Amino acid sequence: MDRVFEANKTLARLMPVLNAKRWVHKEAKIAFKQNLEEHFQRLFDPLVELYGHHYDLHFHFDRLLRQLAAHYDAQYGQQRANMDPFWFHSEKNLGIAVYVDLFAGDLIKLRDRIPYLKSLGVNYLHLMPLYLAPEGDSDGGYAVSDYRQVNPKLGTNEDLKLLAEALHAEDMRLVLDFVFNHTSDEHSWAASAKAGDRRYQDYYYLVSDESEVAEYNSTVREIFPTVRRGSFTWVNEVDAWVWTTFNSFQWDLNYSNPEVFVAIADEMLHLASLGCDVLRLDALAFIWKQRGTVCESLPQAHTLIKAFNACLRISAPHVLFKSEAIVHPDEVNKYIGLDECQLSYNPLMMALMWESLATRETKLLTASLKRSFQIPQHTRWVNYIRCHDDIGWTWDDQLAAQLGINSADHRLFLNRFYTGQFDGSFARGVPFQENPANGDCRVCGTLASLAGLEQAVDLDDNDALVLALRRIQLLNALNLSITGIPLLYQGDDLGVFNDNSYLEDPHKRSDARWVNRKMLNSDDFARGDKVSTVQGRVAASLRQMIRIRQANPVFGASQTEILETYNPHAFAFARIGEQRLLVLANFSEHRLEIPGSILQILASRQITDLLTGDALGTDESIELSAYQVIWALSH
Ligand code: GLC
Ligand code: GLC
Repeated sequence: MDRVFEANKTLARLMPVLNAKRWVHKEAKIAFKQNLEEHFQRLFDPLVELYGHHYDLHFHFDRLLRQLAAHYDAQYGQQRANMDPFWFHSEKNLGIAVYVDLFAGDLIKLRDRIPYLKSLGVNYLHLMPLYLAPEGDSDGGYAVSDYRQVNPKLGTNEDLKLLAEALHAEDMRLVLDFVFNHTSDEHSWAASAKAGDRRYQDYYYLVSDESEVAEYNSTVREIFPTVRRGSFTWVNEVDAWVWTTFNSFQWDLNYSNPEVFVAIADEMLHLASLGCDVLRLDALAFIWKQRGTVCESLPQAHTLIKAFNACLRISAPHVLFKSEAIVHPDEVNKYIGLDECQLSYNPLMMALMWESLATRETKLLTASLKRSFQIPQHTRWVNYIRCHDDIGWTWDDQLAAQLGINSADHRLFLNRFYTGQFDGSFARGVPFQENPANGDCRVCGTLASLAGLEQAVDLDDNDALVLALRRIQLLNALNLSITGIPLLYQGDDLGVFNDNSYLEDPHKRSDARWVNRKMLNSDDFARGDKVSTVQGRVAASLRQMIRIRQANPVFGASQTEILETYNPHAFAFARIGEQRLLVLANFSEHRLEIPGSILQILASRQITDLLTGDALGTDESIELSAYQVIWALSH
């Protein structure tokens, strides 16, 4: 079929819909039509690919177009003018992810925390899901009952709007979650399905044949094996098993039904209209299912994301996607592109920095990033050390094998190391989702607790304390200097330790991720302000590095080249732009020396370490003390 011809034909047939619409803004109609003409092909192609065999596809196109036009019109004139479309390349960017209630109490009080965020240098605020969700366990808000209603515990829709405005007034960006793989079982769609409405039953995956369930279960990964074995939950009301990749109250949406795509696109456009700049695509690897496959990262998942992306280009062009794919590195990278996700979490670097800290060896980190760090021009990583979730040990097993690493054994070691079951470990992590079938698990804990600070304080061991502070500084220094947006996680800026209070809450007790979701109180903030406390030392070192980053354009647009150091404990990369920077890190507690020749990449004789102010030369060897990082800038 001639796609271009067919797209034009479809668009011409749809035009009367736009002409009949009563536009609030006359100019909006003209601008919208331009967007549509420019991007319709990018919407048409994926939808025909996914849904071309549906007899009523044109009906869905019609409906989708009405939605796109309505949202565009409603928002017209509210977008910020003159916004640099590539704002996410700048060295000024610094993100933080926070829970509204745990970080501030509610949305109104969150506005009072803006000065704190500004003083830290934050300009990208990710609010964990804040929509209506079931009482009790809601997977930290990731079970959404209504995308259009702010959870009353956190405030009102109006509060959110005011917050967005307050952030924008400070030139800060708002990031919201787009939880589109599943809804909660209390969402009105799920309620209608339970009430027997077949139309809404088709919004989800209902399977009544037990052997079919078994067949699917034999090919898909178990994400929450301690919640329930397999990926299905029996639901009496519908007399069937419902596909539930995560918790049993999170029902996976059925994107093989075009009506679901159109309905969720409407919710997405609503979120975009709240004034957010980035949507975080939650659990996007799972959105397409097909019998006999792993049902993760299938080609159709990419096609779907391209279609959602095209909706934004047409109706809310300033909004970007951030991919949350915590999967094999090659699969992570496939979601990254201007036509899919312009931003992506970097789980590979995150996991391998922790791996290097445990082993004191950098070969896996270096080899993996050499292979996977490059992403398409203009797209960016969102680099992070910790987040609200667990750490999963993702890397490429074949590449590890080439380096002599047995991945299964190595993951076991890392789990033991970070959960404190390995002699001499500095870490105080907690296991999450131990799989009874294969002994697999993931690790939870805050940055400070995993890096050894909690243990050092408990043991009152000053040497250990110094090392722990240096480990934290090392991770922060890499996160802040490699290409991308560095993303902090609430509390890690204040050096908070694990919080075990979740064990007393019946809704949280079985989900160890709550150990790193502490309710921050005024003491936590006060300690971060005092350099006489260990937390204050964490905060002060972080702030110093943020200031340096934001003052030097070399941390902005330039690309990263991962370098060989020929030292098993050292990790290095260069940023080559108008200025040049070499970042060199020691992942061991022992002093090491690197030949000064590594500085030749800076093509200059005038080199300063931005972190110490020391001059460096290519003729002498570079000495790195325990966990030291050097930010060598050429003049
Ligand atoms: C993402 C979230 C995680 C949640 C899951 C299901 O991975 O980060 O917290 O449990 O999706 O929504
Ligand atoms: C995510 C990931 C999984 C992660 C989980 C949240 O989507 O795929 O590895 O641990 O959900 O805990």
